[in-house]
Amino acid sequence: MDQTNVRNETMIAAKPGESTPGNDFARRLLSWYDEHHRKLPWRVGPRDTSSGMRADPYRVWLSEIMLQQTTVEAVKPYFRAFVDRWPDITALANAAEEDVMKAWAGLGYYSRARNLKNCADLVTTVYGGRFPNSEEGLRTLPGIGDYTAAAIAAIAFGRPAAVVDGNVERVMTRFRAIEIPLPEAKRIVREALRPLVPADRPGDFAQATMDLGATICTPRRPSCFLCPLRPECSALEAGDPERFPLRAAKAGRPLRRGAAFVAMRPDGAILLRRRPDKGLLGGMSEVPTSGWSARVDGDATPQAAPLAADWIAAGKVLHVFTHFELELSVYRAAVPDFAPPPGHRWARPDDIHDEALPTVMKKAIEAAIPGVTRQRRPQG
Ligand code: ADE
Repeated sequence: MDQTNVRNETMIAAKPGESTPGNDFARRLLSWYDEHHRKLPWRVGPRDTSSGMRADPYRVWLSEIMLQQTTVEAVKPYFRAFVDRWPDITALANAAEEDVMKAWAGLGYYSRARNLKNCADLVTTVYGGRFPNSEEGLRTLPGIGDYTAAAIAAIAFGRPAAVVDGNVERVMTRFRAIEIPLPEAKRIVREALRPLVPADRPGDFAQATMDLGATICTPRRPSCFLCPLRPECSALEAGDPERFPLRAAKAGRPLRRGAAFVAMRPDGAILLRRRPDKGLLGGMSEVPTSGWSARVDGDATPQAAPLAADWIAAGKVLHVFTHFELELSVYRAAVPDFAPPPGHRWARPDDIHDEALPTVMKKAIEAAIPGVTRQRRPQG
């Protein structure tokens, strides 16, 4: 272990309330947040939290689930559409799963939407519509892992939880010049952060760290001259903040191949089916495809078509999933009207935007019939 890491481990041992750099960290960060926080539709601003107001746990939970791996800007219209339509957890529990999936379409990671609904059902039926108010209690709910439990506990319930997302990892690995690569550094970041969380404003502190990471301590070209933590930032002192966080060498994403078949009836309706509930894009709609998965290629030729027709090649689309990339060869065919096979149905052009179509399927359909999926996006 080199000198920097020895210093990291020593500083981690600091306890809350001691006269350590930690107190300055929270003080500097919170005064910066008071002036420069982002105004977000799910957030209760620092002026309100200082008068004892807390964010609604339902809104905090919903936003945190939406924000898992999606940007703040992308989430805003979806968040507004959800709370307009389902203003509280009971309303969401009473919604049809199909409607929730459709409202989620475009946000990606569709298992999250199913977990969202399961969680709403559970909180309503088992907890009388009130979320558990501790990290441990929250962690038992569907779709809530360590990060989300800590975020909700801090922001909605004022618990002094150490909330570590990608932004916070960057801020902390730079602040302490942590020379250990991610993902191993995560644990060290959490330990380093824990004693810095102020008992009186843990929710603001968590969101301040996130905002700093998103607006000042950015991955590239951080604005260190504006940073409230600059007097104590080890990475800045060492002269190269962008070097942090260190990352372990990544295994490349494998490229999978498959085929998608867009069959169009004379009235423009497209043949769709529902994917199995379990697994990737579970329960979402798709055009018939060959049997690709994250692990195996599917047949990319027209021979894989589920029905006989004059299939015409309509190009290829590429989609990046978390663990693999998928190249779909798209085929289209004009077909006569026929009764759809079991599990399939016809979707008319006017109804396409109401389908729970994942982005990869929209890309495939667009390649075959340009313009047909042009979505009405949630307003916001
Ligand atoms: N990213 C995830 N949760 C967030 C929050 N509450 N504020 C800002 N960015 C976030």
